[in-house]
Amino acid sequence: MQYTANNLEHHWMPFTGNRDFKNNPRIVVKGEGMYFTDHKGGKIIDGSSGLFCSPLGHGRPEIAEAVYHQLLENDYVPPFQTATPGSFELANRISRITPDPLNHVFFVNSGSESIDTALKICMAFHRARGDGQRTRFVSRERAYHGVNIGGVSISGMVKNRETFSGVMPNIVHMRHTWSEDQLFTRGQPETGAEVADDLARFCETYGGSTIAAVFVEPVAGSTGVLVPPKGYLNKLRKICDEHGILLVFDEVICGFGRMGAPFAAHAFGVTPDIMTMAKALTNASQPMGAVAVRDDIYSTIIDAAPENVIDFFHGYTYSAHPAACAAGIATQKIYEEEGTFEQAANLIDYFHDGLFTLQNLNCVRDIRCFGLMGGVELKSKGAPGALGTQMQKDLFWNGMHAKFTGDVAIMAPPFISEKEHIDSMIDILRQTIEKIE
Ligand SMILES: Cc1ncc(COP(=O)(O)O)c(C=O)c1O
Repeated sequence: MQYTANNLEHHWMPFTGNRDFKNNPRIVVKGEGMYFTDHKGGKIIDGSSGLFCSPLGHGRPEIAEAVYHQLLENDYVPPFQTATPGSFELANRISRITPDPLNHVFFVNSGSESIDTALKICMAFHRARGDGQRTRFVSRERAYHGVNIGGVSISGMVKNRETFSGVMPNIVHMRHTWSEDQLFTRGQPETGAEVADDLARFCETYGGSTIAAVFVEPVAGSTGVLVPPKGYLNKLRKICDEHGILLVFDEVICGFGRMGAPFAAHAFGVTPDIMTMAKALTNASQPMGAVAVRDDIYSTIIDAAPENVIDFFHGYTYSAHPAACAAGIATQKIYEEEGTFEQAANLIDYFHDGLFTLQNLNCVRDIRCFGLMGGVELKSKGAPGALGTQMQKDLFWNGMHAKFTGDVAIMAPPFISEKEHIDSMIDILRQTIEKIE
């Protein structure tokens, strides 16, 4: 095959219908503030903060400059046995906003890596305490925990699982929290907390002392915004405490202000033992994720090893990469100095009002929302997901990027949005939905 600069064939794109895309590509050539520009010159408002990861919009000069200067100063240092100053500064900054006592931070390069790292931390912690028989993990239907083998095994979305999930044994899934009686609920549903009792049943069936950890997204984002019923997360916390099970919140989407608070743990008033995070850590300007753990989880694992040997046999060549740390510090500074999380929180009601103006459209099956994230579920036409795929393309050409899962549009406006940006997102969504009615 002949190579030309604009030959699209060589790049096998992720989570994309490659043949369809390459027949009618949507190529973004610029990102600035709230907007992308496509290769035909079209302006596209970013209705999902990229993939929930760019709450400050695109092209923030402070972040770009921090990365540039870092690369000139010190572009790479092995993160095993050596370190750069930035990794400590960033970990300090993150630990200032995580709930106490989650004050120790392990750096990775993505949300998927944060999940597999958290799985290993759970195993290492129990083993260090002489509790190594805890080998079972509990997660939930319709969960998305990334695409690495551990994460996909505990995920609950069938298309991601059916080919790849058979490798990791001893995983059980609780029921997801959505039910018909929650249709068109704004915020947390009043009903449904009792599905947390699935965890109690697993403890009765398998023995609570065999379960290492429970992984949940506080709000299940990628499956289409499933908001936890009131009391649900508290119940999980209580059952975990009764049985010595670790509670892990996957805050990869929820973290860094999306829920109207620094983390979902704050928004829902439930503190997990471990939190994974990634999106929005660097405003997506550099790949990075992290795992925050309770102080005693850190000390138990490191104290179990003699002082002069490695305490945790895990890490990536690019863990705490200097450029990612620089991007992370610059991003966290902006969040702090500009009060970005408060800015997001002030926009929530307006955003929810806008979403619910779509309630009476014939094609809309459900609307769900919490914080600055909302799912607009369409009534499927043909195969599940066929309409959503078409809608996502139509929206793009109508001037908006929105993330879709199946037939659900998942809106997650950047925190820098003005009210007129929200209006524009809702208008484009309405007009595009009306065309299919
Ligand atoms: C809750 C959750 N966990 C993990 C991941 C995986 O993150 P990444 O795509 O950075 O590997 C995602 C990605 O959407 C996510 O939503």
